[in-house]
Amino acid sequence: MSNGNKKFFIIDFDSTFTQVEALDILGEISLKNVPDKKDRLKKVADITNQGMNGSSSFRESLEERLALLKANKSHLPQLVEELKKLVSKSFKRNADFFEAHHEKVYIISNGFKDFIVPIVGDYHIKPENVFANEFIFDEAGNIVDFNRDNVLSSNNGKVEQLKSLELKGDIYVIGDGYTDYEIKAAGLANKFYAFTENVERGNVTENADHITPSLDEFLYLNKLNTAISYPKNRINVLLLEGVHPKAVELMKYEGYNVEIYPAGLDEEELAKKIKNVSILGIRSKTQVTKKVLENAKRLISIGAFCIGTNQIDLEECLKKGIAVFNAPFSNTRSVVEMAIAEIIVLMRKLADRSAAMHVGKWDKSAKGSYEIRGKYLGIIGYGNIGAQLSVLAESLGLNVLYYDSEEKLALGNARKCDSMEELLQRSDIVSLHVDGRPDNHNIIGDSEFKLMKDGVIFINLSRGHVVDLTALKKNIESGKVAGAAVDVFPKEPKSNDEEFVSELRGLPNTILTPHIGGSTMEAQENIASFVPNKIMDYINTGGTTNSVNFPNLQLPKLQDAHRLIHIHENMPGILARINNVLAEHEINIVGQYLKTNEAIGYVITDIDKAYDRDVIKALRQIDHTIKFRVLY
Ligand code: NAI
Repeated sequence: MSNGNKKFFIIDFDSTFTQVEALDILGEISLKNVPDKKDRLKKVADITNQGMNGSSSFRESLEERLALLKANKSHLPQLVEELKKLVSKSFKRNADFFEAHHEKVYIISNGFKDFIVPIVGDYHIKPENVFANEFIFDEAGNIVDFNRDNVLSSNNGKVEQLKSLELKGDIYVIGDGYTDYEIKAAGLANKFYAFTENVERGNVTENADHITPSLDEFLYLNKLNTAISYPKNRINVLLLEGVHPKAVELMKYEGYNVEIYPAGLDEEELAKKIKNVSILGIRSKTQVTKKVLENAKRLISIGAFCIGTNQIDLEECLKKGIAVFNAPFSNTRSVVEMAIAEIIVLMRKLADRSAAMHVGKWDKSAKGSYEIRGKYLGIIGYGNIGAQLSVLAESLGLNVLYYDSEEKLALGNARKCDSMEELLQRSDIVSLHVDGRPDNHNIIGDSEFKLMKDGVIFINLSRGHVVDLTALKKNIESGKVAGAAVDVFPKEPKSNDEEFVSELRGLPNTILTPHIGGSTMEAQENIASFVPNKIMDYINTGGTTNSVNFPNLQLPKLQDAHRLIHIHENMPGILARINNVLAEHEINIVGQYLKTNEAIGYVITDIDKAYDRDVIKALRQIDHTIKFRVLY
C-alpha cells in the first residue's frame, strides 16, 4: 500500500473534529420550545451511540433521528456557530498542521456537509475534501430527508467512499467510531487511530492500531508536530494518598495521563513507580527521599496537596530541577474559624460543660465565663493565618496584638508588639501561628507562661514542637492557664487506628483535637484546585509563582514567540552562554527572564524565530545544565 511518501489523513467529524455529535446540538436548537425536548434528545443520543458501536443499520438510524429533530434550514447558521466553539481542543491547538497539510486531509463523515464544510473550512480544508451526507429540505425549509444516493447514507458507507477516492499513498484514519475502524478492517488504511479526547468506545479502542487521546499524540507519533513540545497525554501524573477528585478532574481535563492511588507508597515502592512519572502529587505522608528522586528520571514537578513540605527532600529536588508546589493558604480560613470558635468555647468553658451534661451534671453558673468583646488577643506569628485571624477577631470586638519575627503590615487596628514578652504580658488570649522551623522548638515554655496573665487562654494550632507540653500541663493544673486548645502535637498518631497518647489528656477546660485545624471540605477543594493550577501554569508557561523551592518568576503571556526554559546550577556566565548559542544560530531574543537562588538559576528565553533541533541540542549541552525544555 505504501506509495512514495504521500500520506493522506482521513478524519471523522462528529466527536472527533468537534467535541460533540452535531445532531445533538441541532436538536438543542430545533427543539428549543418543544415540550418533550429532553426525551427526544435522549432518543437521538441513544440511536447515535448504537450506530457508533456498529450495532444498528445506519440509514434507519438517520431516518429516526431526523424525524425526532424536526429541524429546519433556518437552524443551521446557529448550529455552525455553536460547532465552531466546540472544535476539539487539540484540533484548535494544532491549526498549523491543517494549514500545512490541508490538501491531504479528507473529512469522511456520516454527518452532513451542510454544517461540516463551514467548520473545517476555517482549518483550510476545502469543500471538495469533505465527504458527508446532504440534507433534503421541503419548500418551507424543513429537513425532511437526506440524499439517499450518497454512499455515506448507507452501511459501510465510509469504506465505499474511500474506495471510490482511489487515493494513492499511505492512509491514516483518525476517528472515534466503529465505522472509522471499518476502513482499516476493509484493508484500505495503513493505520487506524482511535481518537479518545471526547469519547471512548471499547470496541473501537480494542481494534485500533493506536489510541490517541488527542491530536497531539497522533502528530507526535508521526513526527508531524510543528512545535517540538511534548503531547500532554504523554505527561504521566501519579496522585497518591487519595488526592481530592477535583485535582484528578483538572489534570485529566488538561490532557495528562493520570494514575491515582488511594494510599501512600513506601520508599521502595515509590522509587520503582516514579521512573516514568512527570508529575507527582502527594499529601503529608509520602516521603519523597533522595533515593526516590534518584529514580525519578522524568519528574518535572511535585505537588504537595497540603501546607507542609517537610516530607520532600527539597534540596535534592532543586539539584534535579524539579519544581515543588504546595497550597500555602488554601486552608487558612478553616484554621482561623477554628481558632475563633475555640476562643469563645474556652472563655465560656463550653466543652467541659457539655461533657458534664452528658454524664448528667447540671452546673448553671456564670463563674469564670467571659465575653470575648474587648479582650486582648495576642497573635504570635502574623503570617497567612495570624493576619487573617487578626481581621476576623477584630470584627468580633477583640483587641488584637501581634508579634512576628519579621516586619509585618498591621491589619485594621491591630497593634504590633516589639517583643514576644510584651505580647505575653498584655494578652488575655495567646494564639500561636508560627511556622515549623526547627528554631521554634519550645518557644513557649515555663518562663513564657510565667509572663502571661493569670487566667490566660492559650491556643496552639500551629506546630506541635513549639510548645513545651509539660510546662503547659503544669500551668493548666495550677490555674494560671484557664483554658487551652491544642490541635498539633510533637508526636501524633500515624493513623486513626493508633491511640493518642499525651500528658494533656484529662485536663480541665482543655480542647484537644486531632490536627484538624485545616481539615474542612472547602479547604480540601481549595487545595485540589490550587496545586494543579500552579503545576499546569509551570508546565504551560514556566511560571513559578508560589513554588516552594524554585526562584519565583511571574511571566507575561507569550504571543508569536517560542519559549525556552533552562534550569542550571547557579554558576556565573551561563546566561551569556545561552545567548551565545542563540546568537550563533541567528535567533532573536524577544524577552528574557532570569532568577536565581543559592542552588539554581532559572532562565526563560522567548525567541521569535522557528528554532531547529540543533539549537535545542546546543542549549542542552551547555555545561551545568540541569534541565531544559521547549514550551511551544
Ligand atoms: P506563614 O508562614 O504564613 O506564617 C508564619 C509566620 O510566623 C511568619 O510571618 C513568620 O515570620 C512568623 N514566625 C516564625 N517564627 C516566629 C517566631 N519564633 N516568633 C514570631 N514570629 C515567627 O504560615 P501560616 O500559613 O500562617 O501557618 C502558620 C502555622 O499554622 C504553620 O506552622 C502551619 O504549619 C500551621 N498550620 C496548621 C494547620 C492545622 O491543621 N492545625 C493547618 C494549616 C497550617
